[in-house]
Amino acid sequence: MSWRTKSRLAWLHDLPGVSENEALASRTSFGIGGPAEFFVELARPEAIEKAIEGCRERDIPYLLLGAGTNLLVADRGVEGLVVRVVNREHHIDGTRVRAGAGLKMMRLARIVADANLRGFEFAIGVPGTLGGAVYQDAGCWGKEIREVLVEVDGFMPGAGKQTWKPPALKFGYRTSALRDGDLKGALVVSATVQLTRGDGEEAKQLMSKLTRERNETQPIKTKNCGSVFKNPQGDSAGRLVQAAGLKGTREGAAVVSELHGNFIINEGGATAADVKRLIERVMVEVKRRFGVQLEPEVEMVGQWK
Ligand code: EPU
Repeated sequence: MSWRTKSRLAWLHDLPGVSENEALASRTSFGIGGPAEFFVELARPEAIEKAIEGCRERDIPYLLLGAGTNLLVADRGVEGLVVRVVNREHHIDGTRVRAGAGLKMMRLARIVADANLRGFEFAIGVPGTLGGAVYQDAGCWGKEIREVLVEVDGFMPGAGKQTWKPPALKFGYRTSALRDGDLKGALVVSATVQLTRGDGEEAKQLMSKLTRERNETQPIKTKNCGSVFKNPQGDSAGRLVQAAGLKGTREGAAVVSELHGNFIINEGGATAADVKRLIERVMVEVKRRFGVQLEPEVEMVGQWK
């Protein structure tokens, strides 16, 4: 491997808290994937920044991991350094809330309801972290993070600390400049959202109702990665999968959910290869039946070949 020289390896070994050949399956909601060659979990932004800056200087590949909810990690694992970002502090200033990228969206939804703030209830349906939500403009029930986002503090290896207003993040449907554009490889340190003052009890009631609904329509207690495909313009991937008769289709221990066609469930012991084969099968069949090209929403990372 090109980056695998002695001094680079020595630097990785000396990184505080680093471990080698660390299982990633248990750190993804799918419960699938091979090991990280090097793995470190960090809460202090300065430590995360130092780690990825060090990687850049040495040409070591790195992957920033949040709650691992929208990921399919290859069975052969991930080369280089995987950094699990776990800074979870939050600060409420009137109706503005700034929180660390590692804080879970669902947790933040409860925190702001407790503070009698409204406008963040949708986050109770977003399984990942705040950083992950910014990375791909996550949302639920027709509302996305960009609608409440004011500012993001970040770090770009080679360019240092940065602050991005929403236009710089170039949000699109389940994407941003961080996922697919000129901010690729940058770290989200924290994000600030603008909410409105309101009745926290009402917010909690709404969140309970939405969660009940989600329970009935999505297999949320299973091992899955959330929506597998993006919804095609004006249609629903789940509807198309159902109409193609693909619910219950399986590859190994990976199966298309009977409850919601846009979910693939790991029944236990599914491999990333199983899931990838199943995704491709669904895409081929939906294209054949309806002429619609589905596009995966789940991000495939690691060494596939
Ligand atoms: N439908 C079917 N069969 C199915 C599933 C859905 O006919 O198996 C139909 C439903 O009856 C409904 C339509 O398809 O008429 C849309 O389904 P749903 O309301 O479940 O929403 P979705 O478009 O499938 C989106 C987000 C979800 C989010 C829900 C709820 C995407 C790709 N998915 O799903 O987000 O939780 O709305 O707001 O945008 C995620 O991003 O990971 C995710 C789960």
